Amino acid sequence: MTKTVKDYIRSIVDFPHEGIIFRDVTTLFADARGFRMAVDQLLTPYTGMNIDKVVGLEARGFILGGAVAHQLSTGFVPIRKKGKLPGAVISEAYTLEYGEAVVEIHDDALKPGERVLIVDDLLATGGTAAAGITLCERLGAKVVGCAFVIDLPALGGRELLESLGHEVHALTSFEGD
Ligand code: PRP
Ligand code: MG
Repeated sequence: MTKTVKDYIRSIVDFPHEGIIFRDVTTLFADARGFRMAVDQLLTPYTGMNIDKVVGLEARGFILGGAVAHQLSTGFVPIRKKGKLPGAVISEAYTLEYGEAVVEIHDDALKPGERVLIVDDLLATGGTAAAGITLCERLGAKVVGCAFVIDLPALGGRELLESLGHEVHALTSFEGD
């Protein structure tokens, strides 16, 4: 049978903590057919949507977002964890399971009115993506889509982003399987 994107994702039990099943996309990225399939499926809804910039969320969103940007012939902009970007930045804090994290974007990376597609590997609580959306919007850009390889619907990220008025595009989901 033809393999789907989900078939290339490896599940690692008890990583990084006991009781967590880690969805490992390195096996998807390492396979020529799997990687092309994932990138093509991520960008399909956005062809003809006049995307100006693809914004990738650290770290696996860089791998996917770079490929998507190349294929859509747009620029690529990274959103990084605190302290990694060399230029002037704006910052946004978000809540993690334990404590807080901060993501940053260069303050001149997007122009007002630019149409942005946000890309990451996985949507869980949506905290990372929501912080990324806020950063783009603070620069005056319009987030026209949020694309992920994996959605974990039980963690509420899709609901959060939709409640903020954003459409979620995910290639596959895991619901306790
Ligand atoms: C993972 C994943 C997403 C984020 C999703 O990244 O790659 O970016 O968590 O979780 P959320 O929807 O609950 O915010 P992580 O923060 O582990 O960092 P990394 O990508 O740099 O490894
Ligand atoms: Mg991440």
